[in-house]
Amino acid sequence: APTRYEAETAPASCNGTIDTNHAGFSGSGFCNAGNAVGAAAQFTVSAPTAGTARLGVRFANGTTTARPTDILVNGARVAGTTFEGTGAWTTWVTKTLTVAVTAGSTTIAFSPTTADGLANIDYLDFEVVAGGTGGNGQPN
Ligand code: GCU
Ligand code: CA
Repeated sequence: APTRYEAETAPASCNGTIDTNHAGFSGSGFCNAGNAVGAAAQFTVSAPTAGTARLGVRFANGTTTARPTDILVNGARVAGTTFEGTGAWTTWVTKTLTVAVTAGSTTIAFSPTTADGLANIDYLDFEVVAGGTGGNGQPN
């Protein structure tokens, strides 16, 4: 099962404010990052093994304009994605992505590439699903 990392819980960081004004979020709030290029939401996850990790990022974008973002793993860009409009700031959806990780503490950041900034970010679900060993010598 994935581990859930809330955007409002340290050591996560939010280049903006932790807000509560749009219902439906998990935990005690969500990250409303600034409307600017590079205004990121970052999570620090623990990878039990190296391999392919499945990310589930929950977000809301109440505008009709998709918000593109870089995905940074330990500070390096590994992919990009977009947070499309979800219809309302209270409509939260989860986008699934995969990235490669090494074992141990790993930062995963969403860093927007346009002046619109990010969608509002609720949490990141993280699970290494393939490509390493599960710690018992068996593939994960
Ligand atoms: C509104 C909304 C915020 C959102 C912002 C944005 O101000 O209330 O939650 O982050 O728009 O466009 O990014
Ligand atoms: Ca915002």
